[in-house]
Amino acid sequence: MSRHESIADWLDQDRPGHTLPRELYVSAAAFQFDAHVMLKSVWLYACTVAHVKQPGDYFVFELASNSIIVVRGRDGQVRAFWNSCRHRGSRICEQQRGRAPRLTCPYHQWTYGLDGTLLAARSMAEDFDKADHGLVPVALENIGGLIFICMADDPPPIDRVKADIADQIAIYDLDKCKVAVQDELIEHANWKLVMENNRECYHCEVGHPELVGVLGTYGFGKGLRDDGDGDMIDDRGYDALVAGKRDEWKALRIDRDLIEFPGGWWHRIARLPLANGAVTQSIDGKLACKKLIGPFAEPESSSLSVWTQPNSWHHFCCDHVVTFSLTPLSADRTLLRTSWLVHEDAVEGVDYDAINIAALWRATNKQDGHFSQTNHLGIATDGYRQGPYAVEEKLVEAFKDFYVDRARAAIALATA
Ligand code: FES
Ligand SMILES: [Fe+2]
Repeated sequence: MSRHESIADWLDQDRPGHTLPRELYVSAAAFQFDAHVMLKSVWLYACTVAHVKQPGDYFVFELASNSIIVVRGRDGQVRAFWNSCRHRGSRICEQQRGRAPRLTCPYHQWTYGLDGTLLAARSMAEDFDKADHGLVPVALENIGGLIFICMADDPPPIDRVKADIADQIAIYDLDKCKVAVQDELIEHANWKLVMENNRECYHCEVGHPELVGVLGTYGFGKGLRDDGDGDMIDDRGYDALVAGKRDEWKALRIDRDLIEFPGGWWHRIARLPLANGAVTQSIDGKLACKKLIGPFAEPESSSLSVWTQPNSWHHFCCDHVVTFSLTPLSADRTLLRTSWLVHEDAVEGVDYDAINIAALWRATNKQDGHFSQTNHLGIATDGYRQGPYAVEEKLVEAFKDFYVDRARAAIALATA
């Protein structure tokens, strides 16, 4: 049996418009494949430039047994390296985040510069060349302040994603932001279910009372109905709401058309009007930070949302940014890391309250964690059958199609 034969068989059971076969969600084999083959073949969102704000700041991104150091050098550049020492392989950074003038291995103290060069290694043979033993780099792209990494030797293209996202988020100037709060939530569900859950709002009206108070029950792919001829009808007035805002957005130079996974690319960008007079994504819809970010002199009643396959989503408000990255830990455990960013000059307790700024998405994440866990448990039963997506779950299907497509491509590459 070839290396990924069972995965290929399960991928062959994929049905258009339907959920995946059970084994792709619950089996240990699929988890190993996802973590070490499929997810290694694509770009993954790791963190923002605000997570590594100063030279020497590092952020450790982990995916199953893989561990990568994202670090800002003395020259201001952000780079990524495998978190494995060139001596006998020890992990170098043991904390998830920190600041260090150099990267020193805890085992025998080999010491690396922030650019990965080996600076010191005691009592090596005379012919040992430090220049041959720098940290192994990992591909990294800084997209308007969002840091993406790719573990593949030959990363796939990223240029269109980079151009489209950077164009719209540059105004928020993430270089001038800082991390106010970072949460790590372990969801007891397969990572693909956590992603599927994020890609629809079919569950929002019942499942997220706090969120719909601010975001309404539209956007996020919601609110459209198929008229039977393949055309989408807007029953809820969302199109009119967006149209009514566009003059305001033009004046602010933030008016753009929806970008939705164009031509096989893996990003979606939408500016969404907020509901009920909300000016940000907070529980009461009121500013969560007094210091505004981006070009906003006044509160603005919309947010810009960015979604990327296969592991991130981000919301840019006029007073803060909230950003989510997801990594699988095992077949039925997923780490969701949520970070709230504010202007670097904002003062906690004066301009913002850390509990208040995080409250809306903390509550929403908890609710989603429960939905994903329940979803996973039901799929694990012998009674599970691949189920049909609703019309407004088109973005769930876009994620699933991305997964199936990249999984097949990764198998083809691995078995070529
Ligand atoms: S393994 Fe890092 S110094 Fe020995
Ligand atoms: Fe949700």
